[in-house]
Amino acid sequence: VNDRRESLYIVSGWAAKFFHQQMMETDEGKSIGLSYFKERGFRDDIIKKFELGYSPDVWDALTQQGIKEGYNIQFLEDTGLTIRKDNEKLYDRFRGRVMFPIHSFTGRVIGFGGRTLKTDKAVPKYVNSPESDIYHKSNVLYGLFFAKKSMRDEDNCYLVEGYADVLSVHQAGVENVVASSGTSLTIEQIRMIGRFTKNITILYDGDEAGIKASLRGLDMILEEGLNVKVVNFPDSHDPDSYVQKFGSAAFKTHIDQNKKDFILYKTGILLKDAGNDPIKRAGIIREVVESIAKIPDGIKASVFVRECSSLLQIEERVLISELNKIRLGKI
Ligand code: CTP
Ligand code: MN
Ligand code: MN
Ligand code: MN
Ligand code: MN
Repeated sequence: VNDRRESLYIVSGWAAKFFHQQMMETDEGKSIGLSYFKERGFRDDIIKKFELGYSPDVWDALTQQGIKEGYNIQFLEDTGLTIRKDNEKLYDRFRGRVMFPIHSFTGRVIGFGGRTLKTDKAVPKYVNSPESDIYHKSNVLYGLFFAKKSMRDEDNCYLVEGYADVLSVHQAGVENVVASSGTSLTIEQIRMIGRFTKNITILYDGDEAGIKASLRGLDMILEEGLNVKVVNFPDSHDPDSYVQKFGSAAFKTHIDQNKKDFILYKTGILLKDAGNDPIKRAGIIREVVESIAKIPDGIKASVFVRECSSLLQIEERVLISELNKIRLGKI
């Protein structure tokens, strides 16, 4: 084992404990951090399980405690927990934020997301750990360690956008949930899910950005040979706000009643965009066929050709000839 990387794991694990303890045992932590999580409806068992915490609102609480306990400053800097200003003054990256430790799929802490408690739009809502030798954000899914068993058992993975979505959905008893954490979904993340299940259900935010991201994600998932469904949420809701407002039974019903396979989802969105414009409507056919062309399994693709044909009222042979054109173009 690489000693340097091991040291980064150790210092990150220690920091998670520090933030958690600050939240559970200090006056500032309890009155600001813990009460924030409680107000958002997170239960104690979830706060413990995910090791949520609070970073004190001073310049260098973590850095000073780390030095006091004998941690090498270099490792604190390499994880991004401590920042060195002008080669001189040391200060904490996370200050006055509620903390979400990010775990590797084996359960070790590798990084953090910190959410501001201010509503001031000038303050970034989330500050995240920088890339380090143990944290490569394109290879990480938030919540995977806590989701993987259920992903196997349920043979499905719910994919959400954010930290709070993972927590609230998990708390509602749907434990097979992970987040891409804001960055657009990567091939590495899809392959990681693929080790546990071949079925992904996208639950992105109901806003414009969420819909765009779901369409991009869908094509990538198909290309990797996994199956994908999508559930829409009403605009202005994300899975967290929905389940916290309406409860877990309503959340599960919403999923069951709104789960769409990718063709139905994509044509639905495109048809709404196109309105009655005949040229735009013709363009939809091409776009949907482009998604089908990404499916490596020919038999699966032909099933979707049939569905597309009845959905858009177009003869199958027309779709197949479009499909072949795209496939030939790709070679
Ligand atoms: N994100 C980020 N930096 C930001 C905004 C968002 O890293 N400035 C990431 C976070 O992982 C966040 C996810 O993108 O959880 C989704 O963003 P958003 O929907 O804006 O936040 P929520 O997760 O809904 O956060 P909250 O419910 O706490 O407002
Ligand atoms: Mn590396
Ligand atoms: Mn959003
Ligand atoms: Mn949210
Ligand atoms: Mn959101």
